[in-house]
Amino acid sequence: MVLVDKPAPLIGSIIVPGDKSIAHRAVFFAALSQGVTRIIGLPEGSDVRASLNAIESLGAKVSLAVDGNGITVVEVEGWGDMGPKPRVSEDVLMLDCGNSGTTARFLLGMLSGYPITVRLDGDASLTTRPMKRLLDPLCSMGLSCISSSWPIEIRGEEPLKPIPFELPVASAQMKTALLFAAMRADGTSRIIEPALSRDHTERLAEAFGIRIEKLSSEHGFEVTGPIAPCAPDVPIAIPGDFSSAAFWITAALCIPGSDLTIEGVGLNPTRLGFIDALQAMGANVSVERIDDLSSEPYGRIRAIYTGRLRPCETVACDSAMLIDEAPVLAIMCARAMGKSLLRNIGELALKECDRLNAIIEALSACGVKARAIENEDGSTDLLICGNGELSVSDGTKASAYRDHRIAMMWAVLSAICHAQVQLDAKDIDSISVSYPGFLDEFSQRLGYAPIVRFE
Ligand code: S3P
Repeated sequence: MVLVDKPAPLIGSIIVPGDKSIAHRAVFFAALSQGVTRIIGLPEGSDVRASLNAIESLGAKVSLAVDGNGITVVEVEGWGDMGPKPRVSEDVLMLDCGNSGTTARFLLGMLSGYPITVRLDGDASLTTRPMKRLLDPLCSMGLSCISSSWPIEIRGEEPLKPIPFELPVASAQMKTALLFAAMRADGTSRIIEPALSRDHTERLAEAFGIRIEKLSSEHGFEVTGPIAPCAPDVPIAIPGDFSSAAFWITAALCIPGSDLTIEGVGLNPTRLGFIDALQAMGANVSVERIDDLSSEPYGRIRAIYTGRLRPCETVACDSAMLIDEAPVLAIMCARAMGKSLLRNIGELALKECDRLNAIIEALSACGVKARAIENEDGSTDLLICGNGELSVSDGTKASAYRDHRIAMMWAVLSAICHAQVQLDAKDIDSISVSYPGFLDEFSQRLGYAPIVRFE
């Protein structure tokens, strides 16, 4: 596709792949369960595939199919009371987590409670990501950490000791990993986070018969082990991924003439910090809740091109509710007139790449000043000086640092600027971690390819 004068407005409706976060959790609960769990709407990205491969290597039976509507359905027969039975008989079972931090952290939590030795490895990005803050509490429960640097080697213990634990940061991956361990502990564990992070685990636990006592005075819960999940009688249905929808929402709000509805998307309130920020900025975006799917609200989001935007200041304790949308929220702030402040988002530096720097670099390539501010309390904010304009030269060679969300951010930036930005093949391929079809569908709807490949 050649470069056109301007991108076509985004009109009509679309659906996005199933929610990656919910999918990982459904796959893990299913592996631990007695019985067969049917999961409908599994996303096809390589992250969830890493989780499926791992549970299969550990002895769960996995069968994948695509139904008549093109929806991926997976059936998982868990190991239940038998515990994991590695497929290959090696002293140390190797599990490749690819690019997926969720897979790695969930495996560490889940395997802490079984007396098997496992070595976890991953790609060049994953093997730089912090695991110590999770390994420390798991070791205090009884996990033996043979190597805490990558490849990480652990040996679990049965039963584990229960813990009270306060997470240093609001992290849904950590609290979920600790819950998996707490389910294999003998007694009551209490897990508290400083602010609320996504609560998909708490919602899904119920469907698998795991009783979690939510604390009323703090963000957290208690769980009493040992307790094993049970495959639900009804299938787990996964709504569309809000974080994938966020790229479309941003593009529609920024490309003149657009009026786009994302159908069937998850509307869990702990994920919607981006929508709150957009509405505070005056963006024409509306949310309509339709119903619940497996305890998760879903519905449609309509985004209509909005010319003028106010800057925004997000609330520090809500940062976990918009962390994955920070790249696109930063685009919106860049398009607003004035200074925006995204508070307490230092965790961005620890994602698939250092997203804090990647965002600053991308905005600066588009003529917008942005910088990180280190606060005295140790938190980090992102200041963006929006001037209502974004522009990037056609043919600009950019780097997405092999990070799917930064690569998609570049696609949206490029489309908004009516440009064609170049990324290398590995950056483009990284999109398949969460949204393999994104670039094709985006290019098709825009009438041109906003991203092209250089070698
Ligand atoms: C996720 C939690 C978040 C998020 C990640 C997915 C999850 O990470 O950034 O993309 O599924 O629990 P942290 O828990 O590390 O903040």
